[in-house]
Amino acid sequence: MTTATPELPTLRVGMLGCGTVGSQVARIITQQHDDLAARTGAHVELVAIAVRDASKDRPGIDPALFTQDAAGLVARDDLDIIIELIGGVESTRELVATALSRGTSVVTANKALLAAHGAELTGIANQTGADLYYEAAVAGAIPILRPLRESLVGDEITMVMGIVNGTTNYILDQMTTTGADFDDALAQAQGLGYAEADPTADIEGHDAAAKAAILASLAFHTRVSGDQVFCEGISHLTAADIEAVTRLGFVLKLLAVAQLTPEDQVSVRVHPVILPNSHPLSSVHGAYNAIFVESREAGRLMFMGPGAGGAPTASAVMGDLVTVARNRKRGVAGHAPSGYTDRVVAPMGGTECLFYLRFDVDDKPGVLAQAASVFSRRGVSLQTVSQIAKLEGPAGHEQPLATLGIMTHETQEQVIQECVAELQAEPFLHGEVRLLRVEGMA
Ligand code: NAP
Ligand code: HSE
Repeated sequence: MTTATPELPTLRVGMLGCGTVGSQVARIITQQHDDLAARTGAHVELVAIAVRDASKDRPGIDPALFTQDAAGLVARDDLDIIIELIGGVESTRELVATALSRGTSVVTANKALLAAHGAELTGIANQTGADLYYEAAVAGAIPILRPLRESLVGDEITMVMGIVNGTTNYILDQMTTTGADFDDALAQAQGLGYAEADPTADIEGHDAAAKAAILASLAFHTRVSGDQVFCEGISHLTAADIEAVTRLGFVLKLLAVAQLTPEDQVSVRVHPVILPNSHPLSSVHGAYNAIFVESREAGRLMFMGPGAGGAPTASAVMGDLVTVARNRKRGVAGHAPSGYTDRVVAPMGGTECLFYLRFDVDDKPGVLAQAASVFSRRGVSLQTVSQIAKLEGPAGHEQPLATLGIMTHETQEQVIQECVAELQAEPFLHGEVRLLRVEGMA
C-alpha cells in the first residue's frame, strides 16, 4: 500500500555492508518507502552505504550511495540511524561505538560483536540516549529478543533452549535425511547465504555460543559474554555418529541451552545433542531455528522460523529500523535491556544431563561387566546397554569386536568425563569413545 506523505520529516539512514543481508535491507527500504513512512511517521531515506568494494555491480541500488569509507560514514553529522551489516568484531566495534557516542542510533545483526562488547556498547548508548537494537543477531527472522526484553519481562524465565544456527542445522539435516557428506552440505549452506564469512564460526559452535550469550543475558537480566559459554561444534561428527543415532530413534542437533541452576547461577552451553524423534525440535529442518522458553508463569513457549538467509534476516533488521525510527521521531530512546543481576556463570562440569556413549570393545566374556563397572564405581546409573554391531578386529587382532551403546541416567558432566577417560585407557577398548549429550527425555 502506498500513501502520499510528503509533509513528514526525514530520517537519514547510513548502512555499513551490502552483502547477503544488507542488499535485502536496501531493497526493502526502497520498495517499502511509502509504507515505512506511514508506519514510522517519517520518510526513512537510505543516504549512504559503506562497502569494501564500491565498484561492484549491485543491481537495484543507486551506485551513488556507495563509499569505501566506513569510518567517515559513522562520523557524519547528518545521520539519524546506522545499520551495521558488515560483521566482524574489533573494527566494527570501533564503528558502532563511534556512531553511538555521537548519539546516532544503531541497528545491527552482529552477534559476535554483541557477545564480545554488548555491555560496553549498551553503556555508550545509555549515556548518549541512542538506541542499540539487534533482533536479527539471534535466530534470523524469529522475533525472540523482543519477547525476552519486553513481552516476558514481567515473568521469570528459567530456561532458553533451541536451535540457533541455521548452517549447522542445515548440515546435520542434510547428512541425516539425504546422506550428504559434511563438506558438500556446508558448501550448499554457504551458497544459500546461511553461513558466516568464515564458516568456522558456524561449524565450531562460536556463532551459536555468541547467540546463547545474548539470550542468557536478556533472559536472566545479567551479562554473559561469548567466551563464558561452553562450546563444542559439529565438525567432529561423522556419518557413523548419524547412523548410530538414527538407529536409536534419535536425531542429532546443535543446541544452545541457557538455564538457571538451583544455586541461581547461569548455565550456558552449546554442543551437539541427541533428541528423541518425537521431540518437537527433531522436526526442525533445513536452516530453520526454533527456541523454547520456559518461564515460571507462562510455562513453555516455542518460537520457530527461518534462522538465516538474506531476506529473513532483513525482516528482523527492518523491524528494529521501524522501532528505532519511531523512537527518533518522538525524540525518545527505547528501554535498554535490564542487566541488573550479577549472576555467576556455572562451570560446565556441574551440568547434569543424560549421556549416550558408543565405543568398540573386544567381544569376549567379562568385557561388558568391566565396562559397566567404570560407571558403577562412580555411581552412574545406566538406562540402556546394547550391543549395536559386531565387527571384525583390526588387522593382526584375532579377537572380533563389538560396538556397545550405553545411555546413562542423569549424571554430572565431570563424572562422565572421568568415565570416558578411564574407558579410553582400558586395553579392551578400540578407537575412541563417542560421547553425546541427550535432551528431551524428561
Ligand atoms: P556478507 O554477505 O559477507 O556481507 C558483508 C558486507 O560487508 C559486504 O557488503 C562487504 O562489502 C562489507 N564489508 C566487509 N568489510 C568491510 C569494511 N571493512 N568496510 C566496509 N564494508 C565492508 O555478510 P552477511 O551474511 O550479510 O552478514 C552481515 C552481518 O549479519 C554479520 O554480522 C552476520 O553475522 C549477520 N547475520 C547474517 C545472517 C545471514 O544469514 N547471512 C543472519 C543473521 C545475522 P563488499 O560487498 O564490497 O564485499
Ligand atoms: N551463520 C548464521 C547461521 C547466520 O547459520 O545461523 C544467522 O545468524
